[in-house]
Amino acid sequence: MRIATLTSGGDCPGLNAVIRGAVRTASGAGATVVGYQDGWQGLLEDRRVQLYDDENIDRILRRGGTILGTGRLHPDDFRAGIDRVKANLADAGIDALIAIGGEGTLKGAQWLHENGVPVVGVPKTIDNDVNGTDATFGFDTAVAVATDAIDRLHTTAESHNRVMIVETMGRHVGWIALHAGMAGGAHDILIPEFPFDIEDVCKKMARRFQMGEKYGIIVVAEGAVPREGTLEMPERQVDRYGHEKLENMGQTIANEIHRRLDTDVRATVLGHIQRGGTPTAYDRVLATRFAVHATRSALRGEFGVVVALHGEEIQRISFPEAVGTLKRVPEGRYTTAQALFG
Ligand code: F6P
Repeated sequence: MRIATLTSGGDCPGLNAVIRGAVRTASGAGATVVGYQDGWQGLLEDRRVQLYDDENIDRILRRGGTILGTGRLHPDDFRAGIDRVKANLADAGIDALIAIGGEGTLKGAQWLHENGVPVVGVPKTIDNDVNGTDATFGFDTAVAVATDAIDRLHTTAESHNRVMIVETMGRHVGWIALHAGMAGGAHDILIPEFPFDIEDVCKKMARRFQMGEKYGIIVVAEGAVPREGTLEMPERQVDRYGHEKLENMGQTIANEIHRRLDTDVRATVLGHIQRGGTPTAYDRVLATRFAVHATRSALRGEFGVVVALHGEEIQRISFPEAVGTLKRVPEGRYTTAQALFG
């Protein structure tokens, strides 16, 4: 059997652990694996490399990013290329495709499956927002990076009597901000799921200073939204994939707190640092487990499924269970965090 794999969408720590896991599992069953480069684009252009079960594949377990490269492709370009995709897979003698990616990639994989391509999905994203799985690999690493940054900002904030705004990734959901903010002892956390009132944010900070505290830390997800009519936001541009360019949420909040409280405020954008570097042990293990189960599905001819973590077990879910809606932070999780605000 000949299995193909690819990584698509934003990269995240643990992708290489999946590639290694797939190659080693396939090899153990007498199958081989090829990797398409740069996501769906590489599949359309038939750019592929043979992956061997050797010492090089073992070394990538610890490595961040993806050895195959990744990229984004507009859904219209993808749909227009379906005949080429099928022809490329047939010419290469591919019997199964393991697509590793977030919600957008899994939607593409679902569409391929509906068009007769034998696909298995592996969910990834630092944002932890893929539905139907308790966790995605990459998230734990991103939270560890963001928590370390918050720890460091505590000491400099205290030295300078400042409010520090820490902006994390999280376009539609606030999992990274919530977890890093809780782990880092933030005094407020603002996430897309629960629109914030800048007045309340300022009151919390003012109260801290009145109580004799010297500083404040506010963690803000890049996609946090102000309650309607409470804060003027700069105009946002839209990229070619229809995504709003989320720039300056942290800085906008910093400016407003400075204006209202006349206190020293600084904003730090963690950005792609959260996505880079070596995966944590947790992410390596989850990525490897996903890889083994996805490859076993491919070997058994079980297609149209996505591997997912349910409690302690890896299970298979259908594409519709994984795509369509995002896994958002539920209210109970946010109100628990709120108990420690201020
Ligand atoms: O991986 C998901 C994500 O981290 C989002 O939180 C973020 O908005 C986006 O990727 C940014 O990705 P890029 O800069 O690669 O377009």
